Amino acid sequence: MRIPLIAGNWKMFKTKAEAVAFAEEFKSLYGGTDVQAAICAPYTNLEALVEIFRGTGIGVGAQNVHFEDEGAFTGEISVKMLEEIGVDFCIVGHSERRQYFAETDETVNLKIRKLLTGPIRPIMCVGESLEQRDSGVLFDFVKSQLEGGLSGIAPEDMKKIVVAYEPIWAIGTGRNASPEQAEEMCAFIRQTLIDMYDEETADEVIIQYGGSVKPANATEIMNQDEIDGALVGGASLKAPDFMQIIDF
Ligand code: PGA
Repeated sequence: MRIPLIAGNWKMFKTKAEAVAFAEEFKSLYGGTDVQAAICAPYTNLEALVEIFRGTGIGVGAQNVHFEDEGAFTGEISVKMLEEIGVDFCIVGHSERRQYFAETDETVNLKIRKLLTGPIRPIMCVGESLEQRDSGVLFDFVKSQLEGGLSGIAPEDMKKIVVAYEPIWAIGTGRNASPEQAEEMCAFIRQTLIDMYDEETADEVIIQYGGSVKPANATEIMNQDEIDGALVGGASLKAPDFMQIIDF
């Protein structure tokens, strides 16, 4: 049984004061649900969110991490630093990091491997550009991201990884993939995991859809068989909107 995971991705939004105000409001709205809810926030907000959400079942995630244990990597944060704060998830390989911060399948793989040495669950993002979709290479491209990012990862570890399918053309554009398009790719991702691993392993992996998910489209997206959750950017910034999505 896969428990759906609906995670907010705040990107570079919210000061600590704003994060605390959100968390208090969200906590008061949150009555517990059948889905796992989480907020992936800027580093500066993580400790406060872990504290406020303690005992509620609401998870907290980071949006990036470095793959080395420690060292002269100015501006970076290690897995151990995140573990000490007590975060539950860490997004890896978001398309914005691939585009603006030179993230590659190789660094995604290194980061996932390092996260898997501890309790933090990686949320690995994959997804094609509009050009790739229009030229028909979308499936080959997503397959290559999966094979590169998951290279050398054992089946038992694979079950801890969340895969987020986020078509780049749907992120922050207001133009979500249709439920059929999202389902088609999420089913392809599951089939690729069956090919790379086995049916039992693939069956346990949470596959999210992300890209302009909002209260108005959450139900039809979440009702797809192969979609086990959502990664929500803009609509996770307001507590009532995010709550509506979780209550889809
Ligand atoms: P969006 O972002 O919901 O604002 O489209 C999704 C994401 O980038 O994770």
